[in-house]
Amino acid sequence: MKLFNTPRDYIKSKFGANEINWNRSILDSIESSYKENSYCDLFYAICLYKDNLKEINEFGVLGCYSIISMAAGSAKNNSNTLIKGFDLFEDYEFNSFKLNDAKERIKKAGFENISLIKTDVFKGDNLLKGLAQAQVVHIDLSNDGDIYEKILTSNLNKNLTLILEGGSHDRDENTWIKKYEARPIHPVLKKFSEDKRLEISIINAFPSLTIIENIA
Ligand SMILES: C[S@@+](CC[C@H](N)C(=O)[O-])C[C@H]1O[C@@H](n2cnc3c(N)ncnc32)[C@H](O)[C@@H]1O
Repeated sequence: MKLFNTPRDYIKSKFGANEINWNRSILDSIESSYKENSYCDLFYAICLYKDNLKEINEFGVLGCYSIISMAAGSAKNNSNTLIKGFDLFEDYEFNSFKLNDAKERIKKAGFENISLIKTDVFKGDNLLKGLAQAQVVHIDLSNDGDIYEKILTSNLNKNLTLILEGGSHDRDENTWIKKYEARPIHPVLKKFSEDKRLEISIINAFPSLTIIENIA
């Protein structure tokens, strides 16, 4: 298990890039907990450098910050990449964003290859299908240790880069995970780090992000 302080440290170590230059102004009006530490560069870089990229799936879209960042990176890699975003949108009982407003945002940003699907991810088979067939999957569904365990025991595409919100010890200790006694994520990651087929990297900057590659 490797730890990185910031997205920038990961990008430098993984891709050898000191700077990632792209038009981030398309994100200016979008709120996201990922914004403070420029996680957009991480989403962009992973999709820019991914080998044989054909399909990206995102589970947890909200206002489109991460999906637009991934779409921008993939456009410089393979402009035919199929991108699907799954979310409950206005049916989510907590902080939510309307499907039609999300579609409008995507249109304004100019990405015609993104499809947004309103669904409960835990009720259908879209998540399992995405993990088995896409090359990049981002999961941001109020993640806890149970979600991580479910994902890491699924059938994962051999060329998959998995990006999951959370993973740091700090996020387990200082968010709703503690408050609502949900299962912490970090111990689950420690357990799976013994599986040599998985390369696990944690970006520590809050809210933290975990990147897992299947290196079997
Ligand atoms: C933290 S937000 C995603 C933030 C987004 N990735 C960004 O870049 O800012 C979590 C999202 O997960 C969605 N969500 C939570 N549970 C879900 C479920 N069971 N099925 C589908 N979407 C769900 C919520 O509607 C919410 O939009």
